[in-house]
Amino acid sequence: MIMLIKLEWIKKDYKMWENIVHVLKWIDLVIYKWDFVSIMWPSWSGKSTLMNIIWMLDIPSNWKYIFDWNEITWKREDDLSKIRGKSIWFIFQSYNLISRMSVIKQVMLPLAYQWIAKSKREKIALEALAKVWLADKRDNKPNELSWWQQQRVSIARALALNPAMILADEPTWALDTKTWEDIMNLLTELNNEGKTIVLITHEKDIDAYAKKHIFIKDWLILN
Ligand SMILES: Nc1ncnc2c1ncn2[C@@H]1O[C@H](COP(=O)(O)OP(=O)(O)OP(=O)(O)O)[C@@H](O)[C@H]1O
Ligand SMILES: [Mg+2]
Repeated sequence: MIMLIKLEWIKKDYKMWENIVHVLKWIDLVIYKWDFVSIMWPSWSGKSTLMNIIWMLDIPSNWKYIFDWNEITWKREDDLSKIRGKSIWFIFQSYNLISRMSVIKQVMLPLAYQWIAKSKREKIALEALAKVWLADKRDNKPNELSWWQQQRVSIARALALNPAMILADEPTWALDTKTWEDIMNLLTELNNEGKTIVLITHEKDIDAYAKKHIFIKDWLILN
């Protein structure tokens, strides 16, 4: 097993008026490449906080973070955002599609900054769209698509960039059964293709899709 993430001594406090709220207390977490991990903790226990820490967006009061053999504990925000942008995608983070642009162009857009020839970009984008069952919508505009189809365009955009890891914080919340099954099947497929997936959920049915399960016990993560 190859390690993708090693997080140690994570401690996160929030200041609320005069009080300090201890959200995460000395948590350790190891995630291996190709893992499909589900985190099922009680409400308010700090799941989203932990997700944002893994995503390098929230910097805890204390941590040591090694991502893909690279110690990032002391890196600056712009370095962190580069690593984040290249390697980690947060599901439903980037729902901001451009209204007048066709689906295929939206997916090609982030690749424009990568010195890839246009024909190659189109090929990568089409492959990503096929993966989310949207190849036939390539020339449609976002307003011609359903909510879940639009979400898939944004997933395809992320897939075109080929991130190593996908994070999902309650991705199925408030969705109908058919849609959440589609989301979970898609995540399973991506995991089979080698993507590492970390998922937060409240629901047993969703948790069942993961290969590994993390529960909270005395504020310590057990692998
Ligand atoms: N910016 C903030 N300032 C102060 N307290 C915060 C802040 N963000 C989160 N908290 C507190 O930290 C605790 C954990 O919040 P977090 O959102 O990480 O939990 P969660 O496990 O994701 O909850 P949920 O199950 O409701 O999604 C909560 O008590 C919350 O009130
Ligand atoms: Mg949350």
